[in-house]
Amino acid sequence: MSLVEKRDEAVRYIQSELSETPKTGLILGSGLGVLADEIEDAKVFAYEDIPGFSGSTVAGHAGRLVAGRLKGEPVIAMQGRFHYYEGHDMKTVTFPVRVMAALGVETLVVTNAAGGINESFNAGDLVIIEDQINMMNDNPLMGKNDEALGPRFPDMSTAYDPKLVALAEAAGHNAGVALQKGVYVGNTGPTYETPAEVRMLATIGGDMVGMSTVPEVIAARHNGLRVLGISCISNMAAGILDQPLSHDEVIETTERVKSDFLNVMKSVVTKLNEE
Ligand code: 6GU
Repeated sequence: MSLVEKRDEAVRYIQSELSETPKTGLILGSGLGVLADEIEDAKVFAYEDIPGFSGSTVAGHAGRLVAGRLKGEPVIAMQGRFHYYEGHDMKTVTFPVRVMAALGVETLVVTNAAGGINESFNAGDLVIIEDQINMMNDNPLMGKNDEALGPRFPDMSTAYDPKLVALAEAAGHNAGVALQKGVYVGNTGPTYETPAEVRMLATIGGDMVGMSTVPEVIAARHNGLRVLGISCISNMAAGILDQPLSHDEVIETTERVKSDFLNVMKSVVTKLNEE
């Protein structure tokens, strides 16, 4: 079965339950899935029930799609995502983005927990992603290109839409939450970086590092979606503070900034609805 056929099977399954077209897609990262609980008139789809979706995700990830209205805006949210380090290939990691685009989504908001590289950041900061660096040594567009999905050589010069960066800045003001801006580095994981790797990533222009987002944004741009990205700095990267890193800290920090995150995201969605 081709990717398009597989995608359309998932789209038919989801669309049969939807009462309206979602305009905004949300990918909610580690510990950030709470936003989906605020979606009204929610239709919920477990990943394992959607044709073509893989079932498995990691701790802190629910593994379901939630469609409905958030602040009046028709949205569809991924509560949990597929990671490359789980052993999924990049086509599997980005399949939900293809499905959201085919459902009618025009704007994708990607969120993640990331390690802070920029020394002016602190754990708990929320950062608007201005650009990304692919350090995964793979690309979801490898192989034959399907022109029905997008171009062979997609432009990535405005991968993160500058208008949406400005919209997110305004949303931060509105919510009374200070937002940083920065460049996201995508590593495969599952190890965190060594201090030497973190120094290298700082040198090449990275402000924060995580294990997701980059493949999804590539697929989104290939599909012509506008992208906004928000990172939650769950911890500083290795060697910056004198302490080891743990997944528990990631979950603890996202728990602590939950209300700021929710307020910013609701304000973002309100502004998207007013566009
Ligand atoms: Cl420090 N590194 C990576 N690759 N991912 C992370 C992280 C660090 N902190 C949270 N996610």
